[in-house]
Amino acid sequence: MAEELFKNRAAIVTGAGVGIGFEIARQLALQGVSILLNDVSMGLAETAAEQIRSEGGVCKAYACDVGDVEAVRQMVGAAVEAFGQLDITVCNAGLTVWGDFFEYTPEMLERLISVNLRGSYFLAQAAARQMREQGSGGRILFMSSVTGHQSIQYLSGYSMTKAALEMLARNLVVELSPYGITVNCVAPGATVTPRNLADDPNYEAIWGRITPTGRVAFPADIANAALFFLSPAAAQVTGQTLIVDGGWSRISPTPSLDFVEKPKG
Ligand SMILES: NC(=O)c1ccc[n+]([C@@H]2O[C@H](COP(=O)([O-])OP(=O)(O)OC[C@H]3O[C@@H](n4cnc5c(N)ncnc54)[C@H](O)[C@@H]3O)[C@@H](O)[C@H]2O)c1
Repeated sequence: MAEELFKNRAAIVTGAGVGIGFEIARQLALQGVSILLNDVSMGLAETAAEQIRSEGGVCKAYACDVGDVEAVRQMVGAAVEAFGQLDITVCNAGLTVWGDFFEYTPEMLERLISVNLRGSYFLAQAAARQMREQGSGGRILFMSSVTGHQSIQYLSGYSMTKAALEMLARNLVVELSPYGITVNCVAPGATVTPRNLADDPNYEAIWGRITPTGRVAFPADIANAALFFLSPAAAQVTGQTLIVDGGWSRISPTPSLDFVEKPKG
């Protein structure tokens, strides 16, 4: 992707200390975008920002819980203070709370809603207000999941939040298009991140076997799709979701979920 496409732009990427968010932040920075890199953990945010800076990117760490609406509004202010503008916002932070539907508790659902939905909704709102004021358009991206399309056991709450984000993107087209702001979703399938490897050290092999392309996704696969939506080249693409899952959702087999049924220790 030509570097000038992203020149003089500033972005917030949430939940970017590790995993998919980190790789999106890194790739944007390599294209010349100034990054406010968010994580709930200041330690993870700082380490990630330092890594991006060591590769020549402009990146500032910012710690807050995206479920905290006031903190999210302040984060948008901090991005504008640091870079003078905000052009791109990636609402990537999201929790997965596995659990049997019959045993699911209000607390479990509330955690999901706080981070996955309130966190994305009010960040998008704060970012869109800033972009409307700037008057030069913008890009908002929600991180959905293939589970917003296909059912996986024990993910009733999570999949509901991801499907909701996709509807939010479709709905916001009406109110954001007049300002040149696009709003889209990437829906990853099984992707190797530290969290998945902690759940199941054999994650890569197990999911690779049941994915038509013969492998799981890596954060770079998801970041490649994200960068298209975030680029000026995608100005006419809005309200869309791109599933990046190696074709898994066309057949949808599920591996053993032993780690949910028989938790460690
Ligand atoms: N990894 C996958 O297989 C996969 C598949 C589909 C969708 N997704 C979605 O992609 C996104 C990123 O997934 P991942 O596996 O890279 O993430 P992850 O679970 O590894 O978390 C990434 C970072 O988010 C941070 N975080 C957690 N709660 C936060 C909060 N409240 N505020 C700010 N930061 C917070 C964590 O500290 C962590 O550093 C999530 O929305 C996830 O639902 C991931």
